[in-house]
Amino acid sequence: MRPDYRRGMTRIAVLGAGKIGEALLAGLLAAGRSASDLIFTERHPERAADLTTRLGVEAADITAAVTKADVVVVAVKPQDIAPVLAELGAALRPGTLVVSLCAGLPTALFEGGLPAGTPVVRVMPNTPMLVGEAMSAVSAGAHATDEHLAVAEEMLGAVGRVVRVPESQQDAVTALSGSGPAYFFFLVEAMIDAGILLGLPRSVAADLIVQSAFGAARMLRDSDDHPVILREAVTSPAGTTIAAIRELERHGVRAALIAAIEAARDRSVELGRSMQRD
Ligand SMILES: NC(=O)c1ccc[n+]([C@@H]2O[C@H](COP(=O)([O-])OP(=O)(O)OC[C@H]3O[C@@H](n4cnc5c(N)ncnc54)[C@H](OP(=O)(O)O)[C@@H]3O)[C@@H](O)[C@H]2O)c1
Repeated sequence: MRPDYRRGMTRIAVLGAGKIGEALLAGLLAAGRSASDLIFTERHPERAADLTTRLGVEAADITAAVTKADVVVVAVKPQDIAPVLAELGAALRPGTLVVSLCAGLPTALFEGGLPAGTPVVRVMPNTPMLVGEAMSAVSAGAHATDEHLAVAEEMLGAVGRVVRVPESQQDAVTALSGSGPAYFFFLVEAMIDAGILLGLPRSVAADLIVQSAFGAARMLRDSDDHPVILREAVTSPAGTTIAAIRELERHGVRAALIAAIEAARDRSVELGRSMQRD
């Protein structure tokens, strides 16, 4: 029977309820999904019991979870995929949508191990999913339709924002938003060090920078202005900001960021190739 993907009618199984899997379950519950529409699998019985106590969601083995689901979300580490795929392939009902959150694994790898015609959607999320502010990019596999993409988008919309990209762009997505939070953490860390150099207590420097980062992020997301316009608004003639900007340009920070993100993209391509060889 064809699954009914209307809102609230889908039963979702999450295979691997680690950091990302748990964040997704929590986000779906917070968005109004009933715990009885969700199910998860975990390797460690103690962790499974703890999650069931905290979230009220039932745990099961892969075969039982998959048999009950319309959508199966794979959230194990990429290196753990082989046994999961073998079990999933044997238990999957025809027409079940498989949504992979596994970084770097192509949809073709899933399609090769699942019943012919299985719709697969590949997702690159990022760690702000843990606070309901993920940036996720979704790509359709060979048998996934617009409707399947919409189901994945609705589900991931419970834990942040979602864009659609062709699968060929997933290495670039990995370099930008997948690794992106780390670049911001790195910048904040460096700016806190600068505050300490200027004689501020570490906690004060951290408060000043973290709240500035949060405020700037909200302005970037919620205003329609380009970052250049927002920066120009705090860059007055002969003022403090332009003195700092001159130093950032002199030290090649813009070029360093572009090169860093290009290196992350290249590494993603390399890792993808090595995972397909293994
Ligand atoms: N964290 C990120 O920033 C991020 C960003 C983008 C994408 N992702 C992707 O999201 C996925 C999950 O990442 P994560 O950070 O949540 O990893 P994680 O915390 O290690 O979670 C994976 C969970 O799956 C469990 N697991 C492994 N094999 C299993 C099996 N056969 N049956 C049932 N459960 C199994 C693991 O149990 P054990 O504890 O026994 O290993 C673990 O609890 C990965 O594929 C990753 O590439 C993560």
